[in-house]
Amino acid sequence: MEHTRAKWGSNFGFLMAAIGSAVGLGNIWGFPYKMGANGGFAFLLLYLLLAAFVGFAVMLGELALGRKSGRGPVGTYALLSKRFKWVGWMGVLSGFFIMAFYTVLGGYCIKYMVLNIGDMFGAGFGSGAFADAGALFGAFITNPLEGVIYTVIFLAITMVIVMGGIKGGIENFSKIAMPALFVMLVITIIRSVTLPGAVEGLIFMFKPNFKPIQENFMQVLAVAGGQMFFSLSLGMGCMMTYGSYLSKKENLEKNSILIIVADTIVAILAGVAVLPAAFALGGEGAAMAGPSLLFVTLQNVFGAMGAIGPFFGFLFYLLVLIAAVTSAISLVEVATTFFLDRAELKGKKNASRKKYTLLVSIVMLALATIVAVDGLGSNGLPTPLGLIWIDFFDLWSEGVMMPLGAMLMALFIGYEYRVKKVENGVTMDGMLLEGEVTESGYRFRSRGFFDVCCKVIVPIAMAFILLVQIDGFFGLGIF
Ligand code: TRP
Repeated sequence: MEHTRAKWGSNFGFLMAAIGSAVGLGNIWGFPYKMGANGGFAFLLLYLLLAAFVGFAVMLGELALGRKSGRGPVGTYALLSKRFKWVGWMGVLSGFFIMAFYTVLGGYCIKYMVLNIGDMFGAGFGSGAFADAGALFGAFITNPLEGVIYTVIFLAITMVIVMGGIKGGIENFSKIAMPALFVMLVITIIRSVTLPGAVEGLIFMFKPNFKPIQENFMQVLAVAGGQMFFSLSLGMGCMMTYGSYLSKKENLEKNSILIIVADTIVAILAGVAVLPAAFALGGEGAAMAGPSLLFVTLQNVFGAMGAIGPFFGFLFYLLVLIAAVTSAISLVEVATTFFLDRAELKGKKNASRKKYTLLVSIVMLALATIVAVDGLGSNGLPTPLGLIWIDFFDLWSEGVMMPLGAMLMALFIGYEYRVKKVENGVTMDGMLLEGEVTESGYRFRSRGFFDVCCKVIVPIAMAFILLVQIDGFFGLGIF
């Protein structure tokens, strides 16, 4: 049976979608703070080393495997190795877990856009009734119904885009959204760095400080590694899925590098947009990671800006929303592709993308509802493993399944896939692993490097990250 697969319209479109997947909440609320708290420039250096020696190989490996098989992670492993099939399943499951909290946070962005619109017109749904942004956020997260409603809106936007298909939905949206995001980011940066006292934020982020690295190198390494992974959308078959829709004539090495470079640049720019503002109005101690930075500190900044504040607030939360949507669609696509692949393998004639996307979205909504109702642990829900729900889903996906998935993929490429290929005498040129010249006609320049990464560096790095996670969680005190 001829395997005809949907395709990206152009390499640029693919890049916008892939960079869109990579650029997300991880860049905006994770990276700047982690960089500042863990050594500034010294952390950045470490991050870049990890991206080069671990991120690049995993990115290239995922794109290449996906393009080779023309399927998502489950289909890819099923096709290439029965033994590894469960790794594909784990990837799809991770996608559901990430979406369980990602959609809730995306919903928060919509809520804050609405709030700032309210403030523009002095309307009742603005922030007027609250003493400060802390009180406002507290009231919002302790209102489960509101949290669920905004989660539904976020998920509905995501779903509609994925229903539009690879080219008609995801690519077309990303081609407009990503450049727009960049423009909004630049405007936000200009406003942020011209606030009085802004320099402090830049110093916090960039000042080289080797103390954290000297004191607790292992911990810093694990933070940088985990951040790099999540930020690049690696370890669960997301890039494998996007790669499966890419034409055989595109250069995967170049694309891998472009995605990594673009994601890193946006992470740094996000820091320049966020931290100076946080420091300008919050002073020392204002910079915090996660929800409080985004929804308390920064909302306070907009509140203190005067008449123009709500405008910048709206622009900023729209920016974050776009970043989150282009990431969420890639997560929904992984699960949708899984069903489409399966339908095709079963020879189903009338498989409907729309139907599968709807099904996937409903399951994700069910999981996300728990997180939304939990309201960052403020509504007294039971705590699984002693964690609040957002952390529970994050621990299993980002903390366990993704490093494990990446490690096993590297081992698979480095050892099993090679061996099998030689045994069967098949040519795997589409995979970028055979010979010097790939099917796309590009020379495989990084072949030796890629090989060492898959065989040695990536497995060791991932095993290490897993160990630090387990150590931290059970309080073993090894590191
Ligand atoms: N990279 C996105 C961020 O930085 C999140 C994301 C999207 C993701 N798709 C993923 C993370 C796949 C891991 C795997 O926010």
